[in-house]
Amino acid sequence: MATKVSKRSSGGAGYRAGAFPTTKTQLQAGTGLLCFTCSVCFILSIICTCLATLLVLVDQKVEAANYQYLLTTMNTESVPDLSFRLPKEVKPLHYDVYLHPDLEKGTFQGKVTILIDVLNRRSYIALHQKDLNITSTALNTYDREENFEFELLDLIQIPKYEMFVVPTKNELHTGLYHLSFEFNGALQPDKIVGFYSSKYKDAQNRTRYIATSKFEPTYARRAYPCFDEPAFKAEFTVKLVHPTGDNYGALSNMNAECTQINQPSPGLTTVTFAKSVPMSTYLSCFIVSDFIALTQMAKGLNDRQFPVSVYTTRTQQDKATFALDIGVKIIEYYIDLFRIDYPLPKLDMAAIPDFVSGAMENWGLVTYREARLLYDKKTDSSAKGYDVVTVISHEFAHMWFGNLVTMSWWNDLWLNEGFASFMQYKSADGILPDWGLMDLFLIEQMHSVFVTDAKLSSHPIVQTVSNPDEITAIFDEISYKKGSSVIRMMENFIKPEVFYGAISSYLNKFIYHNAETADLFKILQESSPDSLNVTAIMDTWTRQTGFPVVNVKKSGNKYVLTQKRFLANPDAHFDSSESEYGYKWTIPITYITNNTSKPTLVWFDKDAKDLVIEFKEPVNWIKFNADEVGYYRVNYEPTEWDILYNILRHQHKTLSVSDRVHFLEDVFSLASASELDYGIAMNMTAYLKQEKHAIPWSVATSKLTAIDTLLSSTISSSKFKKYVRDLVNDVYHEVGWHVSDTDDRISLKLRTTVLRLACSVEHAKCLKEAGEIFKNWIQDPRDIRPHPDIRDLVYYYGMHHAGDEAMWRIMLKKFTVETDSTEKLKLMRGLAAIRSTWILNIFITVATDENYVRAQDFFSCLIAISDNPVGTPIVWDWVRSNWEFLVNRYTLNDRYLGSLIPSITKMFATETKLNEMESFFARYPDAGAGAMNRAKALETVSNNIKWLAKNSRNLESWLNSHVQNN
Ligand SMILES: *[C@@H]1O[C@H](CO)[C@@H](O)[C@H](O)[C@H]1NC(C)=O
Ligand SMILES: *[C@@H]1O[C@H](CO)[C@@H](O)[C@H](O)[C@H]1NC(C)=O
Ligand SMILES: *[C@@H]1O[C@H](CO)[C@@H](O)[C@H](O)[C@H]1NC(C)=O
Ligand SMILES: *[C@@H]1O[C@H](CO)[C@@H](O)[C@H](O)[C@H]1NC(C)=O
Ligand SMILES: [Zn+2]
Repeated sequence: MATKVSKRSSGGAGYRAGAFPTTKTQLQAGTGLLCFTCSVCFILSIICTCLATLLVLVDQKVEAANYQYLLTTMNTESVPDLSFRLPKEVKPLHYDVYLHPDLEKGTFQGKVTILIDVLNRRSYIALHQKDLNITSTALNTYDREENFEFELLDLIQIPKYEMFVVPTKNELHTGLYHLSFEFNGALQPDKIVGFYSSKYKDAQNRTRYIATSKFEPTYARRAYPCFDEPAFKAEFTVKLVHPTGDNYGALSNMNAECTQINQPSPGLTTVTFAKSVPMSTYLSCFIVSDFIALTQMAKGLNDRQFPVSVYTTRTQQDKATFALDIGVKIIEYYIDLFRIDYPLPKLDMAAIPDFVSGAMENWGLVTYREARLLYDKKTDSSAKGYDVVTVISHEFAHMWFGNLVTMSWWNDLWLNEGFASFMQYKSADGILPDWGLMDLFLIEQMHSVFVTDAKLSSHPIVQTVSNPDEITAIFDEISYKKGSSVIRMMENFIKPEVFYGAISSYLNKFIYHNAETADLFKILQESSPDSLNVTAIMDTWTRQTGFPVVNVKKSGNKYVLTQKRFLANPDAHFDSSESEYGYKWTIPITYITNNTSKPTLVWFDKDAKDLVIEFKEPVNWIKFNADEVGYYRVNYEPTEWDILYNILRHQHKTLSVSDRVHFLEDVFSLASASELDYGIAMNMTAYLKQEKHAIPWSVATSKLTAIDTLLSSTISSSKFKKYVRDLVNDVYHEVGWHVSDTDDRISLKLRTTVLRLACSVEHAKCLKEAGEIFKNWIQDPRDIRPHPDIRDLVYYYGMHHAGDEAMWRIMLKKFTVETDSTEKLKLMRGLAAIRSTWILNIFITVATDENYVRAQDFFSCLIAISDNPVGTPIVWDWVRSNWEFLVNRYTLNDRYLGSLIPSITKMFATETKLNEMESFFARYPDAGAGAMNRAKALETVSNNIKWLAKNSRNLESWLNSHVQNN
């Protein structure tokens, strides 16, 4: 059947096409022929299976020690280190995967035949599986004169490494083999990783079951035995079985090529998908559902057209149009930017009712949480539009960066995630230039990760990982957000034209293969006309923890810059010899002055004591880190801060939005770290009375509300609130609660930001209006809901300010019957806002029931209750007494469980709380993927305690001199 496969040429680029030429013929042939060849394959595969001797090997649990024993007693030339990594000498080339989920029973049956290339003589093959029952195994020679089956010894399971070993009786020679398994497993409904089932209610209130998958990073092994590491790329031919009729269908990475009704038995349909390009196992995807598609054509290179589709449940199709429109524009943007075509014949997006992360970039079949993808112009807020756009633009960036070229190992995850997290703004800004996305980048990515990275508990972007818990744990802010921030900095100092040219070369060079961080840096360096040593520069940012603050001292026309590591906690000590780079960075220093608005770039080398910038003529003012492109803070002397403050106060528009945002971010962070007097930071806020842009207000809101919460138990609390109320009052009246159709994106954003801030500092008018809108709605029998933009605020502050038990019960009812996932979350947060301990206790109990709150949303529910000051202690008590329930439900491997603790303890500020946390961690020492989160939580709380001790006096005296009594 198959033609000759040439032996692997060493180091050659390009994958081995033609290993399965039948499929190639199929691709070119018409549909009729497709089904014909396909059935032939099918029959052949049945014959094959029948010929295979069925070795039934039941569930063996042999410990790793036995494996070692066995291997050492076998006559193998190279016994591998028994480790989490598979031996490199057996490479998968092609998977024939057959999966038949039984949606009602919640189980699946599968078969896989893997074409492997054995590169050395050996007597065993190791690969991954977890929680599968392997019922049959066969190993056949492939493509020889006479093919034969090998005699195998019993399979050996190595649960610790999620591996198993297929030992052969006689030694295998190098060459190609077919390794086949039959197996079955459970569609695990609660785990929501691997191959799992999900359910939803349709328009007729019938429960509908679907099966779907989520494999990154190490869950493909739960669906089929495989070589589950990103560097083992192979082609895939997938067959899926779905119920016939009732709108059921199957989806996978590639397009369906052939559909056979009544296969494997009456009532079932088998779909065969086209053979894929070479890809990593974590990108494979299988869906059996009754979803329906909305499709539009996108333009590829050379006038090629390909369909982009959004799959949703039947009732939600009209919510898919926004995502589809954006999807087409984004994929075309990337094709144009990278000058490399999207390589698959189709691109699907599917909105999944239960989904563990926001979205997953399965090649050709991107899966999303429903709430992240679907957009209803009538009921969704304008803020949600941003989320939909940026999640699509993130996932589509992976089609090249991650899928076409993949990190060799998870150590370099940041390259995938950092790049996609930067490109998600860049491409979205490209198609929606008036949405202010690059300013938004600062708050959502850089400022957010500055918080984490200013702690001793942070870690370098590049770090060693081996086991599944560690791999899961690096899907964190550092990989995503610090990654995106340093990539943005690099794009800027290399210059965009050169940068994207180099990215394109990198993608072309490693197409269908894997690469490491060093490979990208090398290409960037070769492309850079300024002969920058990109590797040497970037290593200081990616291989050590943290980031610098640059201190500026002025003397005459000279500015003398020095650098030191920035830490949020002023008392934190570190040993600079811990870092290979001594916690010094090679910093691209940029600046603008009153003379030049175009930034000048100069390099501050990590080994230099200081950097001196001298002007021939004096300058009135200078601002470093133009547009906050660099991943560092800047501190000036008080006199310079005064000058900058005056610029803001009198002509804030001289500076860009990003520069204003940068000032607010830095003054508060520096003050909080005792690098700057709080008075200077507070002085800076006075300019906000003139500020009309959403993003500076957004930074101010997060800084001011954080102080507000920390001060809440002190005597300064009410004065502080009053100060903020005065600041926000003018702009509050300007934006108001009425949302107009003609408001632009930035005004819409400004409104919600300002209302949130005003309500949170108890602006009387703001709360009163929220309460009135809330009561009108809750008593309205027609249930006409507030405008989507202000809806969450009305639910939250309305309930908080004016809600009682009766209203809460009405809202709970609305929440229970709500089918729209976004609206449901808003109602859930509203329920969490009531100022009643006993109702909040009831709410937690209700929320543990899947019929009320989906498992995926339970953490958000707990965090929402905990964000309500009345709920904070309740949630803390509940989590501590129900920890085992949480671990059973989600596993210690779950990153959302890991991040629960820091989320609910972030505002603790007493020794008592700190002790409670420590004894809780001592009681449950195994933190799994949450170990770093625990350290982070403890550090946050002790910082809070110190913060109060250090700053509450100081702020009190500033408030006394700036806020009149009444
Ligand atoms: C695996 O097989 C065992 C024994 O036959 C059975 O008890 C178990 O439920 C099976 N597990 C799955 C996931 O099918
Ligand atoms: C849907 O069915 C559930 C019980 O399965 C019932 O409680 C609910 O009222 C039904 N909803 C509608 C809209 O028919
Ligand atoms: C770049 O810097 C690294 C480390 O500092 C050094 O080993 C390497 O030789 C440099 N490369 C070039 C091209 O200068
Ligand atoms: C910038 O400030 C310097 C010093 O005050 C002044 O001499 C110069 O004219 C200013 N430049 C502009 C463009 O205003
Ligand atoms: Zn991603």
